[in-house]
Amino acid sequence: MNYLIGIDVGTSATKTVLFDHTGKIISSASEEYPLYQPHNGWAEQRPQDWKEAVLGTLSRVMAVSGVRPEDVKSIGISGQMHGLVMLDEAGEPLRPSIIWCDQRTGEEVEDMLKVMPREAWIRITANPPLTGWTAAKILWVRKHEPELYERCRHILLPKDYIRYVLTGEFATEVSDASGMQLLDVPKRCWSKEVLTNLDIPVEWLGTVYESCQVTGYLLPDVARFVGLTKKTAVVGGAGDNAAAAVGTGVVKDKRAFTTIGTSGVVFAHSSQVTIDPKGRVHTCCCAVPGAWHVMGVTQGAGLSLKWMKDEFCQDYVEKAEREGVDVYDLINRDVERIPAGSDRLIYLPYLMGERTPHLDPDCRGVFFGLSAIHTKAHLLRAVMEGVSYSLCDCNDILGEMGIKVDTMMACGGGGKSPIWRQMLSDLYRCPVQTVKQTEGPALGAAILAGVGCGIYESVETACQAMISPEKTSMPDEKEAELYGRYHKLYKKLYLSLKENYRELAGL
Ligand code: XUL
Repeated sequence: MNYLIGIDVGTSATKTVLFDHTGKIISSASEEYPLYQPHNGWAEQRPQDWKEAVLGTLSRVMAVSGVRPEDVKSIGISGQMHGLVMLDEAGEPLRPSIIWCDQRTGEEVEDMLKVMPREAWIRITANPPLTGWTAAKILWVRKHEPELYERCRHILLPKDYIRYVLTGEFATEVSDASGMQLLDVPKRCWSKEVLTNLDIPVEWLGTVYESCQVTGYLLPDVARFVGLTKKTAVVGGAGDNAAAAVGTGVVKDKRAFTTIGTSGVVFAHSSQVTIDPKGRVHTCCCAVPGAWHVMGVTQGAGLSLKWMKDEFCQDYVEKAEREGVDVYDLINRDVERIPAGSDRLIYLPYLMGERTPHLDPDCRGVFFGLSAIHTKAHLLRAVMEGVSYSLCDCNDILGEMGIKVDTMMACGGGGKSPIWRQMLSDLYRCPVQTVKQTEGPALGAAILAGVGCGIYESVETACQAMISPEKTSMPDEKEAELYGRYHKLYKKLYLSLKENYRELAGL
């Protein structure tokens, strides 16, 4: 039997899973780490924390598996996109990583528009300059921390830093590199024009591979430490969303998924480069060679519910510990008792600004309609509904762009909640399906690993062999109609508050 490992370097934790080549989970481990927010709207993590989590989970997964090291043929890595990791000459991180949801780069986005017009950015990188993407972050460090920038020799994305730790190679792959805003997305290679205009040396960036190509092999010391061999290949892998697409079988036209992780994403596969001229959704290379994807992003999806839980739900946390159950199961149980619409309470999920559809780093979260009738469970339900309204905005834009979807999958932590999936199904007015393996990005990365080491001949055949579909939520006409009315009001709220957000940011 051959085995494959998928590693997902997420925002709340790293999850490492060992699969057999039919997609069966043999063992898995995860390890959490902190998110640092030194200022309102900033978000950083320590690359060292990712490294320890990856080495720790890999060792644990192998130790409990009973699998012979030489039978593990290949590893795929997926990870949170857009994060900036800067390394010095010796390969040491120069500063904490500025991660995807950080919103400090409003000015740098303006600077980018001065060196190249918006149309040129869209033509080459398939997207307008964006605050959360890597290029603006590089410019921020150059402007605000010039001494540190002087010492920079390598720029990597979070999962590609892990590749460097595992293999010693400086490399990336097309799906994640698309989110740096330095890649020529239609041509799938670094853009000389962009790099010259921004004055960023190409030598600082890793070699670009396709997601299922082998990029290197485990370093002997690392292999010994984690219980594998130095013949274990490490393939390109993918950004977490492109990897989740593979892990849910979204690898051909008309297929899409919604993920509710820390961020929320609605993602559709596309065999053409399809661009939203208004820049509200992103176009990137996908993990299938020669194909792309379009995705809308809600900045604070699972992040909103986790924030509520961490800050206001100690009672739930303690009860879950006492009863030995998952705290989110307790939350789901109480949320289910609240009617759709949360008795006229609407939540705007803008804790970290918003991308789709507003592209606004300054907006912030709101509970609208609070009344003395509302309980904590109402607030929790309103949070889940608010995130679903935002995801519905993403889905509507894909529809507006003429992207046809006949299968909508759900994944991520939030995708495991039947009540959250029902909200999506009601708002999208379409069936929402899950797959048996809930490992999304880790499974996707392992599938890419299976293609890279030759077990499968294509991503599509590997998906057929390794993924099994499971439950489907069907839309409920009555709730769909009610949510439609709430969603209409939800959309008006941002427009009413837009100027006030600007004022708030200036205080
Ligand atoms: C996508 C995005 C997030 C991160 C974190 O553009 O920023 O989905 O990948 O998961």
